[in-house]
Amino acid sequence: MSVVASASPSLALVKYWGKEPGGVNVPSTTSIAIGLDTLRTTTRLSFSSAKADSVSIGGVPQPVKPFAPLLDHFREISARKQAVAVESENSFPTAAGIASSSSGFAALVMGLDALFETRLSRSDLSAIARTGSGSAARAVYGGFTQWRAGATRATELLPASHWPELRVVVAVVSEGAKGTSSREGMNHTRDTSPLYSRWVELAPEIASRAEEAVRARALEALGRAMRESYLLMFSTMFSARPPVFYWRPESVALIRLAEELRTSGVPVWETMDAGPQVKLLTVSEHVDRVVAGVQSELPGLRVLTSEIGGEPSVRADG
Ligand code: PMV
Repeated sequence: MSVVASASPSLALVKYWGKEPGGVNVPSTTSIAIGLDTLRTTTRLSFSSAKADSVSIGGVPQPVKPFAPLLDHFREISARKQAVAVESENSFPTAAGIASSSSGFAALVMGLDALFETRLSRSDLSAIARTGSGSAARAVYGGFTQWRAGATRATELLPASHWPELRVVVAVVSEGAKGTSSREGMNHTRDTSPLYSRWVELAPEIASRAEEAVRARALEALGRAMRESYLLMFSTMFSARPPVFYWRPESVALIRLAEELRTSGVPVWETMDAGPQVKLLTVSEHVDRVVAGVQSELPGLRVLTSEIGGEPSVRADG
């Protein structure tokens, strides 16, 4: 028996950056995110006659260790004890700061639930996915999600239909995998940045403003909260000892482009994650203008455009 599960990356509008000491990916800051509908991770899972589990991403065999606790968990809570073969594909660059770990672990956990026939609630799947990668706690839902500071699971805030015009333009500055994982970056900034505790103090107010703006579909207010969130998050990285740099010159060029577009009346607000890519939030009527702006600023750059959505799906496959 095989199953195919698919999930979309969870893009944080305001960020989870920092873990509670002692917990497994329990966030110190509340995040609010959207599912990027057009980008997908598709994962096929089957019971294997081999002794050991196997995992591949894009056809490339991976070390099983990061996935083993999740596979073991499902063997523990079900009657099936066999090894599992996992083959995963991303429709977008892997481990480059487009949250492939969020969609990857969400698809894995949803697929394991179907394969092992454990029929867990979405909320329980969120808690389990979190242990693989924090942001995966949000990616088991589509639409707008919230993951509160201190919580072991994320919740659905609003369905994607709440704000159908919202769009994200992802400017792929680098296709390669990043040098520092978000896990390493987070722990290192928490342990060494003198600004880290201030970020954690300021984050709740930014998150409540972002939540209000999402509820009111107020792009400008949301954009301002988004900008404060990612710039404070990066301030903790820049001030870490030694500093963590994910930005490239092209990232800065795109941040400036967003500013110029806003000055010329185009509502577009940027955010970044643990990688050099720049994600530009706008509404449908301005997407073409934003894409044209990116292409004229940085000709040849890969640009992905997405609606909000990303409801995961699971189907049996023979
Ligand atoms: O859970 P991780 O390891 O994918 O870390 C996510 C960190 C950020 O993307 C920077 C922020 C976020 O909330 O997604």
